[in-house]
Amino acid sequence: MKFFIDTADTDEIRKAAAIGVLDGVTTNPSLVAKSGRPFKDVILEICELVDGPVSAEVTATETEEMLDEAREYASWANNVIIKLPLTPDGLNACNTLTDEGIGTNVTLCFSANQALLAARAGASFISPFVGRLDDIGHDGMDVVDEIVTAYDHYDNIDTEVLVASVRHPRHVTEAALMGADVATVPPSVIEQMFQHPKTDLGLEKFLADWESVPGSE
Ligand code: G3P
Repeated sequence: MKFFIDTADTDEIRKAAAIGVLDGVTTNPSLVAKSGRPFKDVILEICELVDGPVSAEVTATETEEMLDEAREYASWANNVIIKLPLTPDGLNACNTLTDEGIGTNVTLCFSANQALLAARAGASFISPFVGRLDDIGHDGMDVVDEIVTAYDHYDNIDTEVLVASVRHPRHVTEAALMGADVATVPPSVIEQMFQHPKTDLGLEKFLADWESVPGSE
């Protein structure tokens, strides 16, 4: 499974890239607003930090305006892909961008049926929002399981399942067990994924024992 990072904070992206676990980046308007920086500056800097796909989201709601924004963003760097909402206008734009060879990430997906529509529109990635489904009392990972299972039945579906709205490490484990293609993980969850008390205790013991090795200082 590939790892994307879900942030517009370039310091966090730099950190994750240095560890070597970064296959791409997802942003959204809320994350860009949180960065406090102009959109284009942020996307250009991110595209220099990672080789993989960098999702830049349109904010227009009608197809033609979405396409104008998308073509503009795609001209900024080779690895920009366009994030589009799962609406009829969004899928219409997705269809056109696919024909033009521009990568897409269809976002705000909350059901397998929505994911089936996105696949038919040629989406490069579909982003089911697992945390937001959990928030309303559903099990977000059930939807991921349905999408992966449904897509697996058809050789002509190339859309990759990108698990989004990840809130904790268990979402990541389950995504991998279900065979999702990608998980986009916030920096805080990447940090949590490293943690295990036995790792800390084990390291402490190794370092303490090393002190008694002759000539180790
Ligand atoms: O990038 C979209 C998605 O991952 C948002 O996550 O935590 O705001 O539901 P969240």
